[in-house]
Amino acid sequence: MSPAKALHIKTYGCQMNVYDSGRLADALAPLGYRLVDGAEGADLVILNTCHIRAKAAEKVYSEIGRLRPHKARRRAAGGTMLIAVAGCVAQAEGAEIARRAPDVDLVVGPQAYHRLPELIARAHRAGGVVLDTDFPVEPKFDHLPASDRPSAISAFLAIQEGCDKFCSFCVVPYTRGAEYSRPADALVAEARDLVAHGAREITLLGQNVNAYHGAAGGLGDLVARLAALPGLLRLRYTTAHPLDMDDRLIAAHRDVPALMPHLHLPVQSGSDTILAAMNRRYDTDTYRRVVERLRRARPDIALSSDFIVGFPGETDRDFAATLALVAEIGFAPSFSFKYSARPGTPAAAREGQAPERVKAERLAALQQLLDTQAEAFHHRAVGGRATVLFVRPGRHAGQLAGRTPHGHAIHAPAPTHLLGTEAVLAVVAAEPHSLTGRLVETGVGRAA
Ligand code: SAH
Ligand code: SF4
Ligand code: F3S
Repeated sequence: MSPAKALHIKTYGCQMNVYDSGRLADALAPLGYRLVDGAEGADLVILNTCHIRAKAAEKVYSEIGRLRPHKARRRAAGGTMLIAVAGCVAQAEGAEIARRAPDVDLVVGPQAYHRLPELIARAHRAGGVVLDTDFPVEPKFDHLPASDRPSAISAFLAIQEGCDKFCSFCVVPYTRGAEYSRPADALVAEARDLVAHGAREITLLGQNVNAYHGAAGGLGDLVARLAALPGLLRLRYTTAHPLDMDDRLIAAHRDVPALMPHLHLPVQSGSDTILAAMNRRYDTDTYRRVVERLRRARPDIALSSDFIVGFPGETDRDFAATLALVAEIGFAPSFSFKYSARPGTPAAAREGQAPERVKAERLAALQQLLDTQAEAFHHRAVGGRATVLFVRPGRHAGQLAGRTPHGHAIHAPAPTHLLGTEAVLAVVAAEPHSLTGRLVETGVGRAA
């Protein structure tokens, strides 16, 4: 065993990055690296970055700037602090990072993480920056060692990575590469391992998670297999694409009790013209039909979405159609973004780029409507009961926090030993972003 070294990982972007950061820590544990909270004094700092919008990408360079004095202090004291940039900015701008940020020692794209130990050794030897943004043929996940860390009670499991959809605004097909599904047997084994380390809920992750084809019956099949694991109480999956909601998966929402009645199903826009320009490959009627099928299978299902406003060419009328669709469908708390032109994506070069003022106005109007719906969503729960999985201590002493099946954040006075168990709560109040509950019954759900 090598002597202990301090590893600090800062994670940006989506849940896939959160999952990857955990696996990076696993991959580095055999080399003696132990996770620490702050960058100061770390032997290795990994910035796991996101490229989805310009703002997200710019954060990386300012963070590198903040690390510079720590690195210099370390060097003055005779030590070394390696700075590694991982994630989607690394993949998209690897060479530019190497040029712009001389303090960076290592740039590693999301498909090359299993090579990290070797890259670190090279970085220690090299004078300049070590760069690996290949898309190797071997799938990375199956080359990363299994974890011996305790698992979060609500854990992530990446089942699919990459995207073949090529929406005209999106960098993901370029940063994460072609769609790849992990074999179902490996996933069942990893899920079993997560449960053995304390997980009670697993969220299956993929950039296009329901395009999963590692089991004969797709994601619906995998969900059914995982739901049979003893000790696993809850399953969720994200992010789903409306076009890949097949019958089997929709039926799982009816037939598999562990599959939670909350689905993030981004529609992006309520205008058919804009959806076509985005290359989303569905129109609003197709989306409505998917929602209908889901609600028939699981009438109480809560749906959330992502929206982009100010896409090139979006008129007031197009935007009004988005507001109308939101009013019609009725969403659980959702995300909305100003369109951000990303280098190399088709939409970035188009005419009709909206001025910042228009984007800001539309975003404010949409968020107002979404906030109203989110508040109504929380208020509807008050006075009822909900089965909650406690996943962490609450903000105040003597409280635990968790989620309802429909995805509301909720907290209640409860003893610590109930962490990791399901309990029935009476919902007594709603705040804008969460619910307050009172313990009614413990020891419900399937025992671990
Ligand atoms: N695979 C998912 C989306 C992943 S990216 C899907 O297809 O729904 C997460 C969200 O970021 C997207 O849903 C979209 O709303 C937003 N997004 C992606 N690219 C963007 C861009 N260039 N500008 C603004 N928002 C963007
Ligand atoms: Fe990006 Fe999602 Fe479209 Fe894929 S389906 S290109 S990840 S927005
Ligand atoms: Fe960002 Fe890459 Fe995820 S661009 S949203 S970290 S897939």
